[in-house]
Amino acid sequence: MQSLNIDLGERSYNILLGSGLLGKVGKLLSQVLQPSRIVLITHPSLFKLYGEKVLSGLKDQGWTADVIEVPEGETSKTLQQAEKIFDRLLDLQCDRKSVLVALGGGVIGDLVGFVAATYQRGIPFVQVPTTLLSQVDSSVGGKTAVNHPKGKNMIGAFYQPRLVVADLDTLQTLPPNEFRAGLAEVIKYGVISDASLFEYLEKNTEKILQLDNECLAHIIKTSCAIKARVVEKDERESHYRMILNFGHTLGHAFEALTGYSRFVHGEAVAIGMVHAAKLSQQLGKCNEDIPIRLSKLVSKCGLPVDRPDLDPEAIIDSLYHDKKTMNNKIKFILVKEIGVVEIADDMPKEDILKVLHTQV
Ligand code: NAD
Ligand code: GLY
Repeated sequence: MQSLNIDLGERSYNILLGSGLLGKVGKLLSQVLQPSRIVLITHPSLFKLYGEKVLSGLKDQGWTADVIEVPEGETSKTLQQAEKIFDRLLDLQCDRKSVLVALGGGVIGDLVGFVAATYQRGIPFVQVPTTLLSQVDSSVGGKTAVNHPKGKNMIGAFYQPRLVVADLDTLQTLPPNEFRAGLAEVIKYGVISDASLFEYLEKNTEKILQLDNECLAHIIKTSCAIKARVVEKDERESHYRMILNFGHTLGHAFEALTGYSRFVHGEAVAIGMVHAAKLSQQLGKCNEDIPIRLSKLVSKCGLPVDRPDLDPEAIIDSLYHDKKTMNNKIKFILVKEIGVVEIADDMPKEDILKVLHTQV
């Protein structure tokens, strides 16, 4: 098992990564928390796959956990679903020492995190991420949220988990498209901060796609370490944390304008990253090798590079509704070289339109 600390003063916690950790969640949890009650929250399909393993490890510590099952999919990240969980927690007489365990991907993690942040003004929660995306991104850093009909992740809080336990073995059952979507975020970390991670991905793509455990451990640990360092510097995203959004500005627009049904998140991010690199080159920030190298790696990972056929003006309009757009100024992350990015605080829409009219 490998361990990484995220240093946020009294909100610090460990990210534990390895094989066979699901059955040890109870023991690992007992080292940081003394719960009055434990509630495991997951999807029915994940409970079937992994629930008993987690419960038996909790039992070994003398705990019986209650289980709340939430339907799968983005449509569960709502205030209504959160309210159903609040009802159950109240029925179970959960108090402020009760601990929620989020077993699942980013949907479960964001929803449970939001419930933990708000139930009785905040109770502890533990992330047990089971998708690549949640292991490298959403379980770390404390962004919790539910969606609003007017926008994704619009209602939420910065609220850190007390522990993250990422069991690599869970990735073996993940649908391949979900795995590739997580890889898009790993590529992102290479671009924003770590040229050697990017090269590692280029050299080991096949092994990674075959879910080689050593490769997985390396890319997940490296990604979490990068995210941890970014979050330590700017937990509440006053500015620097925005670099984690490389590729997401356009990616979010592609997702929203295709009704969140055509792409999984990472696919839209992949297309967004390739376009962001092309834009960086058009602005003279990087040389033309960068978008070429990035789009080669994205394709090799089985991710799309071509943007969907959407009205460029509609894309721009969508950018103005992004959470990161403030005072009508579109923020954009540009790449200078692999491993180095900069934040453009007021990206002219004309420049973005230009890249949207270019074949990448
Ligand atoms: P997800 O949670 O919907 O999981 C994808 C699918 O895979 C689901 O159907 C799930 O049931 C299934 N699944 C999960 N683990 C599995 C496993 N081990 N084996 C088999 N099936 C499994 O999707 P996701 O990509 O993990 O998360 C997306 C969400 O994360 C979005 O809501 C997004 O907004 C959020 N997000 C949050 C942050 C953050 O910082 N908080 C960052 C990125 C994304
Ligand atoms: N996923 C982006 C962030 O956590 O800031």
